[in-house]
Amino acid sequence: MRLIALLAAPLAVQGFIFPADRPDGVYTVAIDDDGNALGEPRLVSALPDTAKLSRRQAPALPNPQTSCHNRALVVSDWNVALSAFNSLCDKGEHYPANTSVVVSVGSTIAYLCNYQNSNRCWSSESNEANQRINRQCGNSGIGWVYVDQYKKSYGRENKDVSIC
Ligand SMILES: *[C@@H]1O[C@H](CO)[C@@H](O)[C@H](O)[C@H]1NC(C)=O
Repeated sequence: MRLIALLAAPLAVQGFIFPADRPDGVYTVAIDDDGNALGEPRLVSALPDTAKLSRRQAPALPNPQTSCHNRALVVSDWNVALSAFNSLCDKGEHYPANTSVVVSVGSTIAYLCNYQNSNRCWSSESNEANQRINRQCGNSGIGWVYVDQYKKSYGRENKDVSIC
């Protein structure tokens, strides 16, 4: 029995779950170093209007690491989420360390996880991450791209599944 308890601890799920009952919109979530939520998702705005993306963008992601989950998302929802996420990113807001930003659309979410760094997101990086996930996980596949140099990740997921 004790052995089971000892073995169970490291298997604890890391990250947090964005609940399925949250309406479309932009949320922030306080997280710890392991991506565990420190509070409930906070609705910060409605989905941004589709904006002309900024011409000033970031360089290609340095040493991006792409990972996949063996499940699929609804591509029509995801396309709206990605577009809204990109419009949000190009507003240029900086998010503090230990923050996740989640754009919720239908059954899907587009997200940024900031671990030990304050970061903004860029549509160029978000699009690069999306293309990497398409290539590695499939066009309806789920995955994320972690960039250690920035201590941040971009991902796409279904609601009700652990992220960050
Ligand atoms: C982020 O959270 C970790 C705990 O997981 C904490 O040790 C660290 O100080 C936090 N960093 C910032 C910048 O708040």
